[in-house]
Formats: sequence, C-alpha cells, structure tokens
Amino acid sequence: MQTRLSVHQKVAKTKIAYFCQSCGFESPKWLGKCPSCGQWNTFAEEIIEKANTAIPDWKSNSTSMQRANKPVQVSEISFDEEQRILTPDKEFNRVLGGGIVAGSLVLIGGEPGIGKSTLMLQLALNMPGMKVLYVSGEESDKQIRMRAERLSQVAIDNLQPVEDPRSEIRNPRFEIGKECYILTETSTQNIFKQIEQLEPDLVVIDSIQTLYSAHIESTPGSVSQVRECTAEMLRFAKESSTPVFLIGHITKDGMIAGPKILEHMVDTVLQFEGDRHHVYRILRAVKNRFGSASELGIYEMLGDGLREVSNPSEILLSQRDEPLSGITISATLEGMRPMLIETQALVSTSPYGTPQRTATGFDTKRMNMLLAVLEKRCGFHLGGKDVFLNITGGISVEDPAIDLGLATAVISSHEDIPIPFKTCFAGEIGLSGEVRAVNRIEQRIAEAQKLGFEQIFISKYNLESGGKNQKRIDLSRYQIAVRTVSSIEEVFSALFG
Ligand code: TYD
Ligand code: MG
Repeated sequence: MQTRLSVHQKVAKTKIAYFCQSCGFESPKWLGKCPSCGQWNTFAEEIIEKANTAIPDWKSNSTSMQRANKPVQVSEISFDEEQRILTPDKEFNRVLGGGIVAGSLVLIGGEPGIGKSTLMLQLALNMPGMKVLYVSGEESDKQIRMRAERLSQVAIDNLQPVEDPRSEIRNPRFEIGKECYILTETSTQNIFKQIEQLEPDLVVIDSIQTLYSAHIESTPGSVSQVRECTAEMLRFAKESSTPVFLIGHITKDGMIAGPKILEHMVDTVLQFEGDRHHVYRILRAVKNRFGSASELGIYEMLGDGLREVSNPSEILLSQRDEPLSGITISATLEGMRPMLIETQALVSTSPYGTPQRTATGFDTKRMNMLLAVLEKRCGFHLGGKDVFLNITGGISVEDPAIDLGLATAVISSHEDIPIPFKTCFAGEIGLSGEVRAVNRIEQRIAEAQKLGFEQIFISKYNLESGGKNQKRIDLSRYQIAVRTVSSIEEVFSALFG
C-alpha cells in the first residue's frame, strides 16, 4: 500500500520536457525545428523530475549548499598559489595549462574508438602517489584489466620523477596501477557512495553518456541525464577539490554528443582527435579556464598504448629526396610551442567554368584572400585556376604566420619551380601584399635552426623594435640565414628570380 502511494507521488511530480538532442535546447512543447541550432526533427520527449526528491546525492545535506555568499572586495579574496598536479605525461600537462587543477572538471571529447579510454586509463595507471578512481560504464573490469596489461609497458617507460616543489607527487617510483581503482557502475548515487568510502584524489568517468542519476527519469545519454550527471560531478569536484575527468563521445558533426550544454558547465574541454587509420592523435584544448585554449599535444597510438611525441616537427615534415614544386615549410606556433609544418599547394587549369578552391587544415576564406592578393598585387593570373591547399599531418592551423609559406607554395606550384631544400617561412600577408611581423619570431627561428634549416624568410618589421618592451633581435646569434623581406614580391624575386 505504502509503495503504491510513493509511486503515485512520484508520478504526480513527473514533468515532461522536450530537448533538442543536438544542442540541448529545452522546450515545453515538441518543435519541428530547433530555434537554437536550426536542426530539424531533433526534439525528443524526456521525463524530468524535480531534483528535490529524497534520493541521496553527493553530500546533498552539506551546509555549503545553503550558505549564502556575501560580496567581497577583490583584494580581500585570499587565494593560494593554484595547486597543480603534474602528471608524468608532459603533453597532457601542457594541454591543461601546466598540470591538473584541484577541483577542476575536465571534459575529454572525441569520436568513438579514437583512444579516449586508452588515454585516461594510461593516465590513471601513471599517477604516482595518488589514489585514482576509474569509473567505467562502458567496459567490464576484465576488459579494463586486459587493457591495463597492454599499457603497463608504456606506463613504466613514461614514469619519470617530476621535479616540481609544488607538486603533490612525492614518490615517483611505485608499483604500476597500485593505487588505481576500477569501478564498473553507472548510477551517480552509487558512484558517490563509493567515492565517500575510497576518498580518491582523482576521478575519471568513462563516459558521461553512460551515467544515470536517479533524480531524472529519462534514459542515460539523453540531454537531461547528461546535464544532471555533469552538474552532480561538478558539485562533487568543487566541494571536495577533487579533479574529475569526464569522457564524452562526440557525434559526427563535431558536437559533444547531443548536449553542447556540457561545454558551458565544465572548466576545461579537451578534444582528442585524429584519423583512426593513422597513428597520430592530437589532444587540443578547446576551452580552458586555467590556461591557454590553443595548446596542443601530439601522441602516437602504438600497440601498447599512447606515446608522447615530443618533437612534432619531425612527423609533420614529409620525407622526400628532391625538391618538389608547391611544397613549403612554415614555422608556426601552436599554443606556446614552435612547430614546423609542411604545406602543399596544387594549382592547375580548371576544366570547368568555376574554378575549385579547397583548403584542408586552413581557413578557405583566408586562402581566397591570399589568392586575391597574389592576383591583384603580384600579377599572377589565378582566376581561372583550381587551387588546392593541404596542411600535412591532418592538423589545422590558425596561426597567420603561415600566410607567407602558403602564398609561396601556390606560386611555386603555379610556376612549377620548386622551393630550395632547407628553406622555411614565417610571416603574415596584408591586403597590399606586405609581409607583416609575427609574434615570437625568435622561437620560430630557433626551431628552424634546430631542425637543420639553412634559411628562413621573415618580415623586415620583425627586426624593428615594436613596443618599448620589445628588444631588437640579434641575428648574429643564429647560424641559420635570416632573410628579411617587406613584400611578397621580394620573396618571389629572391626565390624564383
Ligand atoms: P579506445 O581508448 O577504446 O577509444 P575510445 O575510448 O575513444 O572509444 O581506443 C580504441 C582503439 O585504440 C582501438 O581501435 C584499439 C586501439 N588501441 C591501440 O592501438 N593500442 C592500445 O594499446 C590500445 C589499448 C588500444
Ligand atoms: Mg572508450
């Protein structure tokens, strides 16, 4: 009798809403087209329930929830030097902006099968002196054990003492996976129960789409479930200062599956991307409250796990025996890191009326602008030509310093004259064909020199002291020939005569 009554009460409280499965937009009525993201037929009914039912939550009765905050002056807010936990994976530390921040909620997004579970399990096994809880709703504990066996070799290789006085890591030599606990569970309430007992220093959730909170009736993976589970994890992370990593699958169109809403709730969004048929994987910070959002880490997927690629320039430059036309090397910066990348251009007469312009890894609008500058300022007739641009290695580049290398590649292909070996470029191109200065030119030159390049073309304005803080760069320090130019024509006459 009593149970019936409680069921009845539950039904009375049940509330239905419609959610766009693509962007998470909530509507009281079903809609054919989402007013937020413009997609058709994406609304699905979800049963949502008021969250104030008596289901135990992460310390739901904790006083901090009821405490009302008062305004404080900025100068009076005390802050301790942000505690960063360094992982043995240097690429991962850099992408996070210098290690894991206590109490941060980090979302790792990526397509299924790209290696998210591998990356996080490898991290979990590698955290020296920390108790890690790896919650999996996707695989059984036996499967995870098997994967851990495969990864243990990498774990040993990567384990290096981390020398940071602020670091929490005190004992770099420890038994692999000793403090890594696996929990196969999908109910958030049960997960919190285990967390309260285990008191882990780091929690990994694989994946957020499999989690289920008893506060919400709809199925795991639906917008309201994912939102509620993320909110619970967020509350746990902030109240306990424990960093939490959420793995999230992304759909084909690049959104974190269904709810884009996840991205607003978490502190950091990392994207794990790459071509499943290639070995290289890129970990990119898309949003980061604790660091730069342009950092990037490169990994190699091997039979025994992911290995850091510490010198990415080497993998991004293709091997060839003789110079080919249409290929140039640019010295770019990804985040704080200099990187030499190869760009390839192909210019050919268009067989159709409208020429095709395609760019892979580069903004098509910017390519069109560069082509217009070449046509108008330098007199190359590219109007009736197909132009294809490709950045090798499958990465996309936003650094404007790549302009000069791209324009040179286009002309090299157009004229069919190869660029000499060991030549690279770093300069932005303006609308009048001028070569503009780019930031951190010294780092770029140093990277080119380190990789054995003989000459680098840069803007002449990079040598002139810009602001009062900027010192003149000393070219005599370099063995590499630094060629300074002020317009694209100067580059072309130097290279093509
Ligand atoms: P996984 O981490 O399961 O991907 P996700 O969690 O993003 O869905 O990675 C699966 C792929 O990685 C699978 O195709 C096999 C490959 N892999 C390796 O190449 N080496 C390894 O050591 C491991 C564990 C996986
Ligand atoms: Mg997985």
